[in-house]
Amino acid sequence: MLELKVDLGDRSYPIFIGSDLLSNADYFQSYIKGRRVAIVTNETIAPFYLDLIKRTLANYDLTVITLPDGEQYKNLETLNLIFDQLLQERHTRKTTLLALGGGVIGDMTGFAAACYQRGVDFIQVPTTLLSQVDSSVGGKTGVNHALGKNMIGAFYQPNAVIIDTLTLNTLPDRELSAGLAEVIKYGLICDKPFYQWLQENIGRLLDRDPEALSYAIHQSCQDKARVVETDETESSIRAILNLGHTFGHAIETHTGYGSWLHGEAVAAGMVMAADLSCREGHISREDVDGLIYLLERASLPVMPPSGINPDRFLELMAVDKKALDGQLRLVLLDSVGHAVVTDGFSHQHLIDCLEQFCS
Ligand code: NAD
Ligand code: GLY
Repeated sequence: MLELKVDLGDRSYPIFIGSDLLSNADYFQSYIKGRRVAIVTNETIAPFYLDLIKRTLANYDLTVITLPDGEQYKNLETLNLIFDQLLQERHTRKTTLLALGGGVIGDMTGFAAACYQRGVDFIQVPTTLLSQVDSSVGGKTGVNHALGKNMIGAFYQPNAVIIDTLTLNTLPDRELSAGLAEVIKYGLICDKPFYQWLQENIGRLLDRDPEALSYAIHQSCQDKARVVETDETESSIRAILNLGHTFGHAIETHTGYGSWLHGEAVAAGMVMAADLSCREGHISREDVDGLIYLLERASLPVMPPSGINPDRFLELMAVDKKALDGQLRLVLLDSVGHAVVTDGFSHQHLIDCLEQFCS
């Protein structure tokens, strides 16, 4: 079992990474203060892991809230289903919410925890690779709006993140690849040795080698924790975690939430961000090609979908949360292993980049 800490003063919390943690009550007990726990999950994950976690938490008074599955349900309407059940079953401020699922469940449960009676405890039990390496750590919670992704939400940290790597055994290949996009992101933005390790070990990750997966999850969480500790509410450096996301969110919004997976949109977006970084003279064309090769090996898309044009991209990118006073800001690479957040790029280079990728 590996353990990390996200050091945020009185909001600090541990990340446990290991095999079969779901069946061990010790990892949960210290982070549940009252007698009642509301497990939030969805109809896909419940058949795999709900009985197991219910057995582990048998000493608690449990409520199970089962949501429909899918990014298209990550909205205020579905969030309200959580509040409906919590209120119907008279849950109080002492209840702990437990998110059992991927990033959609984790983001919604965290936001529900931030809002319910002005804030209750919550535990992240992420079950996709993407949620284990990214969304469960750092306290970003929220839902989508028809006009923009993750536009309604709150920063609200969990009490603990419990990552059971055995849950990856039931994850579809496409979802595993989507998670690898965020893993590769950490190498690109802040960890060149990890990027090189990924270039050498991507095959082991795709083969679900447990040792390689544990290492990649640990390294990703560690990289993310260090960034979040420096800038919890994204007033500066935390934005580097969004490499490729401005392009990617535009793809997700354009295609309608759910048809492109978040990690897939991020993969294509990272290639576009790398291409723009190259046009700006920061990284070489070989660096961009190397990234494309790595993403393709991970079975990830390296181009946006057909049918999206540069004007549509610009319109959707303008909704990005990083935009300041109407000025688009992007995460670019100034070298492989180091990212910057900047509005100091040539608009013509951006147009050239969009035209190339939309042709
Ligand atoms: P997801 O939550 O939709 O899960 C993907 C699919 O896998 C779903 O169908 C789910 O039911 C299923 N699933 C989950 N665990 C499984 C398992 N162990 N076995 C079999 N099936 C399983 O998608 P995701 O990729 O986990 O998360 C994407 C979401 O995370 C997006 O909404 C994105 O905006 C958000 N996100 C948030 C942050 C953050 O910092 N909060 C960071 C990155 C992404
Ligand atoms: N996934 C971006 C962040 O947590 O800041």
